[in-house]
Amino acid sequence: MREDSFDRRAYLRGAGAAGLFALTGTAGCVGGGGGGGGGGSDGSSNQIVPGTAPGFPPFEMKEGGEIVGFDIDLLSAVVAETDYQLGNWQAFEFDSLIPALTNDKIDAIAAAMTINEERDETIDFSNPYYNADQSVLVRGGGSFSPSALADLSGHPVGAQEGTTGESQVKTLVENGTLQQSNYNSYGNYVLAVEDLTNGNIDAVVLDKPVAQTFVEQRSVEIAFTVETGERYGFGMRTDDDDLTQALNGGLEAVRESGRYEEIRNEWFGSNGG
Ligand code: ARG
Repeated sequence: MREDSFDRRAYLRGAGAAGLFALTGTAGCVGGGGGGGGGGSDGSSNQIVPGTAPGFPPFEMKEGGEIVGFDIDLLSAVVAETDYQLGNWQAFEFDSLIPALTNDKIDAIAAAMTINEERDETIDFSNPYYNADQSVLVRGGGSFSPSALADLSGHPVGAQEGTTGESQVKTLVENGTLQQSNYNSYGNYVLAVEDLTNGNIDAVVLDKPVAQTFVEQRSVEIAFTVETGERYGFGMRTDDDDLTQALNGGLEAVRESGRYEEIRNEWFGSNGG
């Protein structure tokens, strides 16, 4: 995998960014089709502004001030199959994305967002584009090695606000397994994992593909995984049926063309799911 120039995980392990940008070409172009600023000088009526929540590698993260990742490349490729143009990416904390969408600050969410009933009451989702379960991260080589959620009892646990990982922890609090004071919520998972390696908390609950990325970057390991069977979708306003349909068509097209697999391999190597 080290030799594979198209494996963006190599970058996450500390390889030089410049070479990878040169080789991957499309990865850095997150600002839309070269039309300049957010106003859109050409076809602005068809421009959609995408929103995400960086700090969730390799789906979305900041590299030198720029937002990059699997979701960024995938939505760009999907939109390129439609009559829409992609505007500039807007960054929010994860739990602000749905309000940003319903308040028209953005037109589409691409943030490894799990499709679920609660969210589906407020927004519409595209067809699923990625599968994930929840994993529990602990310090690497540490003495705490839980093998089930119940083992987290009595330990400080972290998750990102508004996520399905947080829901897992809240369920433990509700059923009395975990004390409320032992739940630490964070604006993003990078901060949670920092607190884990610093010893301020003992475990972090988060999506498995992201947990695996942190394992490659930091001194942390996956203690166990809970099979939640989550599926990610792009989020759109409920009255934006044309956009939702166009993105579903675009998703199908990028799968059929092999572009989906290319993007997946680029960010996940050959272990992508
Ligand atoms: N899949 C999880 C959820 O939907 C976590 C998503 C977090 N995404 C992010 N960009 N921080 O709740």
